[in-house]
Amino acid sequence: MLNFVYDNKTRLIFGRGTRFDIASEVEPHSTKILLHYGGGSIKRSGLYDTITQSLRQAGIDYVELGGVKPNPSIALVRQGIDLCRTHDIGFILAVGGGSVIDSAKAIALGVPATEDVWDLFMGKDSSSYTPLPIATVLTIPAAGSESSPNTVISNDETKRKLGHSHPALRPVFSIVDPELFFTLPHNQMANGVCDMMSHIFERYFTNTTHTDLSDSLCEATLRTIIKNARILNTNLHDYDAWAEIAFSGTIAHNNLLGIGREQDWACHAMEHELSALYDIPHGAGLAVVTPAWMHYVYRANPGMFVQFAVNVMNVEGSYRDQDSIIREGINRLQAFFRNLGQPTTMQELGISPEDFPVMANNAINVRGPIGGLMKLDVKDVQNIYKIASMQTI
Ligand code: NZQ
Ligand code: ZN
Repeated sequence: MLNFVYDNKTRLIFGRGTRFDIASEVEPHSTKILLHYGGGSIKRSGLYDTITQSLRQAGIDYVELGGVKPNPSIALVRQGIDLCRTHDIGFILAVGGGSVIDSAKAIALGVPATEDVWDLFMGKDSSSYTPLPIATVLTIPAAGSESSPNTVISNDETKRKLGHSHPALRPVFSIVDPELFFTLPHNQMANGVCDMMSHIFERYFTNTTHTDLSDSLCEATLRTIIKNARILNTNLHDYDAWAEIAFSGTIAHNNLLGIGREQDWACHAMEHELSALYDIPHGAGLAVVTPAWMHYVYRANPGMFVQFAVNVMNVEGSYRDQDSIIREGINRLQAFFRNLGQPTTMQELGISPEDFPVMANNAINVRGPIGGLMKLDVKDVQNIYKIASMQTI
């Protein structure tokens, strides 16, 4: 196990009806905030009215900025920065999913910055800045941004999608009320499930040894997600299944499961290029890329993949030879994604092989070779994109 410091300041307010606590949670932080949200789901569900009424009753002033789209854009972030500066706002409340939360974090980061905020996503150091505090009301369990220090933003002009991390970007509080997930369409549930599973895979598949506890926590969380996703697959109004999924989604990415281990993150880097060029949902891209990546890299650490096949995908330990056990585990994972209605090939995402070279180059060119379990260069990434194009792998 590697040395670690685990420092997570996010106060998690979890459960049925917690959305009604919003004003009392905001009040100690600020009486003037930016209220940031997406494309309209919170207005249709009534959450917008609940929140604005509570804020008004508590005497909390708010300036609004809606319109965040999935794969949130740097253009709206720049507008948000201007709004905060003009109105002297010191606190941001994000009401939505990963896209809204990430947009809020990028605004929070950009307000004190002296350069254009996109420069920070292009790799400029932000450690001397103190971002504005942000808080969230989560409306879709998926990205884990409600308790992560990361933000991922798209630049529609340069066709890039890049992340930035700053410890102070962990929200000061996040309200996770599973009743808010009842209005989600089926495909967004499936996208969220694939994303949170990937956040665990990126941490689980490692060459670090003596990680018994975090291995077991990863496996237990993956099993919980699979079990409850199967319930939601037929009933999107099952409160208990949403509660299990939401709790799993938060710990999948608040890094509790990744401490003491070298992490991978190749699938996320490869997927972000798909979303950047084709504007596809992140979770759908991961459903396509992940099994292909597993096939390509498993020989770097077969023991880890046998463990996954047996402990998570329930492949019998006596199931033929080691290679067959691993392949059966990957096939069962892919079948699970398919059963959720997710795409499992590049063709289903409408991605042309002609774009593989440019996407592979972009995946590598900001930070160099990607991956922890196995270092991947441009050629490797192209090979994985090719495997992801096959009907059966
Ligand atoms: O915009 P609205 O109208 O709200 O609709 C959204 C959006 O269309 C809808 N939705 C959300 N909650 C709903 C709802 N519809 C009905 N009822 C509800 N309760 O769902 C759609 C998707 O929302 P989005 O926020 O894009 O989803 P998600 O949470 O999956 O976020 C995806 C983004 O997070 C980034 C991804 O790259 C992607 O851009 N990630 C952020 C991470 C982080 N900051 O730590 C880590 C992740 O790896 C991920 O990369
Ligand atoms: Zn993700």
